[in-house]
Amino acid sequence: MPPGLELVEAGLDPERLRVIEDLLHATQPEQACTVEEMLARAPLSPDMRRVIARLDGEPVGLATVGRIWVLPPDYPTLWCEVGVVEGARGRSIGSALLAWAQVAGREAGKRMLRVPCSDGRPEGIAFLARRGFAEFYRMTTLELPLAEVAAPAIEPPAGIAITSLGARPDLREAAYRLAVEVYAALPDPEPVSAGDFEEWRVRDVDVPGAPLDGYLLALAGDEPVGYCRLYVHDRGASVGHMMTGVAAAWRGRGVASALKRAALAWALEQGAERMTTENAPGNAPMLAINRRFGYRPTPDFVEMDGPVAAG
Ligand SMILES: CC(C)(COP(=O)(O)OP(=O)(O)OC[C@H]1O[C@@H](n2cnc3c(N)ncnc32)[C@H](O)[C@@H]1OP(=O)(O)O)[C@@H](O)C(=O)NCCC(=O)NCCS
Repeated sequence: MPPGLELVEAGLDPERLRVIEDLLHATQPEQACTVEEMLARAPLSPDMRRVIARLDGEPVGLATVGRIWVLPPDYPTLWCEVGVVEGARGRSIGSALLAWAQVAGREAGKRMLRVPCSDGRPEGIAFLARRGFAEFYRMTTLELPLAEVAAPAIEPPAGIAITSLGARPDLREAAYRLAVEVYAALPDPEPVSAGDFEEWRVRDVDVPGAPLDGYLLALAGDEPVGYCRLYVHDRGASVGHMMTGVAAAWRGRGVASALKRAALAWALEQGAERMTTENAPGNAPMLAINRRFGYRPTPDFVEMDGPVAAG
């Protein structure tokens, strides 16, 4: 370890988690997560560990390891974030943090770590590639600046009404059934799931920074047939999509486009500067919809996989 460097575990201490929040925001803003989100989601990953790197007492970096929520708890790979603030780079702090994460992964009985990266930060990808990591998956990320945008008319297709879980709390169970169908149909490299009802509630519903009037539902009668789950991130500057999905039987009729128009109106109401979204590269229908809305590509989101510590 470089002299003057100490690694301090954050546990669930709110002050230390605030430091983690600030470090995530500084080093990888799209991964940013507030203390309130970390605490609310703690039940999803009880073994999650986070560490602060302090150099001469000053926080300069972080590492985290925890469960990948959309995959089963016994999946052999852990999610892992590593970041060092710009002024402290090139002093082996990133190497010390990654080594800590690799040991933490081994101690958790896992085989691999999956590290979120961005093509916009090629130094992070190169750093991992030199340490035996390789690309596992990438997503197209898109952004819609809102400065010049006016709220569109929502104009749902015939027979469809747009509402929200905030307005219709009685639809939770039905919204869960739809989420189960939508997650299972995602073109991800591994079969992801909405989890059980309680997991879905903690992951996607009762989330700090994601008011329930941003859980948009497209209803056919009383049956949700499409949804768009929005959240506010980047300290209020961005509204992101956690998920947009339409039941298979209702595809190709303009339901997703109506949800996206309602989403845009919601983001404008929140006073956000931009909307963000991610698409699997092969998800042509969603990419086409997003392009029509004026979304433009930003650097790809890249997941890098590598081994835990040997031994
Ligand atoms: C990736 C990251 C964590 C590395 O942190 P770091 O503290 O600079 O890491 P290290 O000092 O251990 O290693 C940096 C490498 O750059 C080299 N380097 C030399 N001078 C440097 C400088 N001034 N600035 C940055 N890197 C420098 C180091 O020699 C080292 O080379 P090596 O990989 O061949 O060993 C940091 O760049 C970062 O936070 N990036 C943004 C977050 C991110 O993308 N995370 C995902 C990937 S981990």
